[in-house]
Amino acid sequence: MIGVGIIGLGTVGRGTYNILKQYGHVIQRKTGVDVRVVKIAEVDPERSKGLETDGIAIVRDAWDLINDPRVDICVELVGGTGAAYDYVAGALKAGKWVVTANKALLAEKGDALFALADREGGEIGFEASVAGAIPVIRAIRDGLIGNRIEYILGILNGTSNYILTKMSEEGLPFNQALREAQELGFAEQDPALDISGVDAAHKLCVLVRLAFGVPITMQEIVTRGVSSIEPTDIEFAKEFGYKIKLLAIAKEQGDSIEARVEPTMIPVRHPMSTVGGVFNAVYVVGDHAGPSLYYGKGAGADPTGSAVVSDIVDMAVRKAAKCARRGLAAGDSSKRIKKGDESVTRFYVRVKAQDQPGVLSKISGILGEHGISIAAVIQKGRTENAYVPIVMLTYEASEGSLKQAIEKIDRLSFIGGPSVHMRIEEGDL
Ligand code: HSE
Repeated sequence: MIGVGIIGLGTVGRGTYNILKQYGHVIQRKTGVDVRVVKIAEVDPERSKGLETDGIAIVRDAWDLINDPRVDICVELVGGTGAAYDYVAGALKAGKWVVTANKALLAEKGDALFALADREGGEIGFEASVAGAIPVIRAIRDGLIGNRIEYILGILNGTSNYILTKMSEEGLPFNQALREAQELGFAEQDPALDISGVDAAHKLCVLVRLAFGVPITMQEIVTRGVSSIEPTDIEFAKEFGYKIKLLAIAKEQGDSIEARVEPTMIPVRHPMSTVGGVFNAVYVVGDHAGPSLYYGKGAGADPTGSAVVSDIVDMAVRKAAKCARRGLAAGDSSKRIKKGDESVTRFYVRVKAQDQPGVLSKISGILGEHGISIAAVIQKGRTENAYVPIVMLTYEASEGSLKQAIEKIDRLSFIGGPSVHMRIEEGDL
């Protein structure tokens, strides 16, 4: 028998417990291993109300569970980077293997924890930390092991994707769309993590370490959230044949890896543009496999519980066979993470300018001085001397040069406010 201890009976803790209770016998039949929850730790007695535990002890102190010799696998589902770190580190030191859904913990303290797991001969399972139910960690770690991963595009935050879908398809205002996403139970306790892009960046951190073997910190990921997107940019994007998505992008470029989370325009014909509502998706390009796409629910009790259970069973089978594997292989690559302004891509630029002769040539002149070439222009409205939006798509340019050019453009006398720019990603179709 492999004993499981669950720390934290929140949404995912309950989902995990219920799935193991429902399918424990099926898992035993399929794998030959009896996987059983033997203890649960939860400080808030309210959270265990109504849970049929069949006599399994619910303790308040997580250390009681960690130090229980019947527990082989500790499942950390408390979240955050404080107590959760102590529990994971403590469990590894006590010789337990650990399963976690905690993307913030892995992004902020993953290097230390995976090094500890290697030293202790333990493991950390983290399938549930990225894109909930989607088995994308396994896809990259096992299914695509015969590949060098070249490119990853992720829609990794359901709340942001819901907001963008509602804004673009139903014209809902940002705040109303956010409220609806919160009501669906997808938003983080602090929704600022969702709308600022930080939650997606936590998940990208995990994917970059796994796929590229590069150590990466959150500070190295250029992170922008959906709160800056204006309905007018969604409309212009449509006119050019693009959708705006909050994309997590990781791309191998020579000796460096580009890693960013930001509102990005993607062609409507790209499958990632069709991922709507709270759904997540990850598009992975390997040198041999080519592109593959993974789609599903990124949050919730059952979807995330499903991923947690997959790690528990995977570990239980190998624990029973006494064969551990290495976790996140960060540090086995010499590649570095690219700085934000080095990024070279096509851009969408919207300036607010007075409608006068010569305006466009001044703007394109400044872009030209910075080596930026324009691929398409739209001007909306025709009111002499009033401000109108002028929207341009550029050919490939470095973000550093574009920012310098925009700074100059925004100082021109006929410009009526800060210009907006956004990355365009063709998505390697
Ligand atoms: N707040 C996250 C989301 C939940 O909106 O996708 C899953 O990590």
